[in-house]
Amino acid sequence: MESLHIELSQNLKQKPDPGALGFGQYFSDHMLTMEYSLEAGWHDLKIVPYGPIALDPSAMVFHYGQEVFEGMKAYRTAAGELVLFRPDMNMKRLNDSCERLSIPQVEPSTLLQGITELIKVDASWIPSGEENALYIRPFIIATEPCLGVRASHTYKLLVILSPVGSYYPEGIHPVSIHVEQRYVRAFRGGTGAAKTASNYAASIKAQEDAKKSGYSQVLWLDGAESKYVEEVGSMNVFFKVNGEVITPELSGSILAGVTRDSVIALLKSWGVPVSERKVAMEELVEAHQKGWLEEAFGTGTAAVISPIGSMKWGELELNIAEGKTGELSKKLYDTITGIQRGLLDDPLGWRYPI
Ligand code: COI
Repeated sequence: MESLHIELSQNLKQKPDPGALGFGQYFSDHMLTMEYSLEAGWHDLKIVPYGPIALDPSAMVFHYGQEVFEGMKAYRTAAGELVLFRPDMNMKRLNDSCERLSIPQVEPSTLLQGITELIKVDASWIPSGEENALYIRPFIIATEPCLGVRASHTYKLLVILSPVGSYYPEGIHPVSIHVEQRYVRAFRGGTGAAKTASNYAASIKAQEDAKKSGYSQVLWLDGAESKYVEEVGSMNVFFKVNGEVITPELSGSILAGVTRDSVIALLKSWGVPVSERKVAMEELVEAHQKGWLEEAFGTGTAAVISPIGSMKWGELELNIAEGKTGELSKKLYDTITGIQRGLLDDPLGWRYPI
């Protein structure tokens, strides 16, 4: 393990009101940083006061978007323990994203140890409150000053911490969805399976248009035929159809969500039939007509479970679960957040005390 240098802040900030956190608006006192060069590899792991970083205007990240990021949360359990949720999966996904973006991979145990030390230093930033948590944002940027289109020779890794409330102001309340037919988020051979900034940049226009038309989120269809469902907003998506839960298979254009994986594992452990396969919009419309489309929900680290109350596809409006939070969506939300917060047993060993 790389040695970790710690420089503590001399100007501790005032903490925000835990009742009005929103998402990603406040940042803790410290951050973790690490540098990469061709000669030294990843080195110089440090915890330093949170603050601006100096980059050359020609740093490659600004021009060609060579960047990857992650999202995780830390909680304080009722017993006072600090815990993460399945952080090994985030470390693996970060490296999978690095591989796709030609960014040198990071030693998972070094990064995880750095993150746990950072959380210990800023533990007082874990907010109280049932829906609150400390959101952890690791990211890597290409820093070499060069306008050539190629992989950078230098990188900077940072981890910043943000006390957050629920991601959607609606909390666990059903949202209305616009099925996007004009724009696509990802396509075969693209970067859809990687957590990289450009996927999110490309989604903003559709999201804004949907908001203007009165919808909370967009449902993304596949990039080849606009036929199959892929993701909802920045989340994975699930449907309960006639007792069976289905979710789009990880085809290469869909992010391998940690919450997605957890939902599938929980459903299996409960004996609920679950399958990962292609899901056509036509199939959902037919199921809806037969009264079989029982529930739909998004899954992600930020919102955990976000029920879908209605979907608008062209002229068709599909109302789901009478616009209420379905029973299974609620059970999944309660179980996952209960495990995360130490309120429930953890039979699958997902809690990671630090
Ligand atoms: C998630 O955790 O669901 C996300 O991907 C949202 C994040 C980009 C803020």
